[in-house]
Amino acid sequence: MNLSDLDPGKIPRHIAIILDGNGRWAKQRGLIRQQGHKAGADNVETVADMMIAAGIPYMTVYAFSTENWKRSQEEVSYLMGLMRWYLKNYIKTALRKGIRLRFLGDASRLDQELQKLIIHAEEVTKDMPNLTLSFAINYGGRDEILRAVRKVSRDVADGKLDEKDIDETVFSSYLDTKGLPDPDLMIRTSGEERISNFLLWQLAYSELYFTDVYWPDFSEEDLEKAIRSYAARDRRFGGRKK
Ligand code: FPP
Repeated sequence: MNLSDLDPGKIPRHIAIILDGNGRWAKQRGLIRQQGHKAGADNVETVADMMIAAGIPYMTVYAFSTENWKRSQEEVSYLMGLMRWYLKNYIKTALRKGIRLRFLGDASRLDQELQKLIIHAEEVTKDMPNLTLSFAINYGGRDEILRAVRKVSRDVADGKLDEKDIDETVFSSYLDTKGLPDPDLMIRTSGEERISNFLLWQLAYSELYFTDVYWPDFSEEDLEKAIRSYAARDRRFGGRKK
């Protein structure tokens, strides 16, 4: 991907992605849904490499939502297994490529092995400089805000926080995304045009980009198109055009 003609200030620093269309991708090929998820997970790795090559330091993917538990038990258990397997193997790769791994969501409902892997992955990769790759697992935007509100209330009750000091910066530090910049660009694949409870607080001023491509097919060319679409936009954050 050659972005050298773009003003560096117009290249997004944080891209968040709703990985959609794995099931339809599989169906289109006469495969089972699980094969679509496997291809989708492989593509997360491929796209992470593209982000590093393009000099984009933050990527966040929606891997499993708080609503995804409603899928068949077979599919849920496959996805959990895939995440365990993928993570176990990916830690070494992440260290080699300089990728810091982060996890967003309520980990308490995940199995013990996955919880341990998450803690381990975050710990060993915490100083990696090239890309911060965050996985939203058992994540819901409303759930994240409610968990933050409970923590804030506890700190106020304990006298650790004064109600008057709760501003956007302080509240953000109670969210799972603490320390991450808000996404500049949110991409959703497979033709659906919804936020689906993803990063509700953080996407307040993000540019949104929708493409019909199914996630496993999302290629370097597709990423470049999304970045170029973003670069051509005029972000005003509610202010007036200069
Ligand atoms: C959406 O496709 C995809 C998901 C709900 C799961 C995404 C998960 C992965 C790509 C694997 C996660 C693992 C890692 C480690 C990244 P869909 O099933 O909703 O597709 P459909 O809408 O075509 O049925």
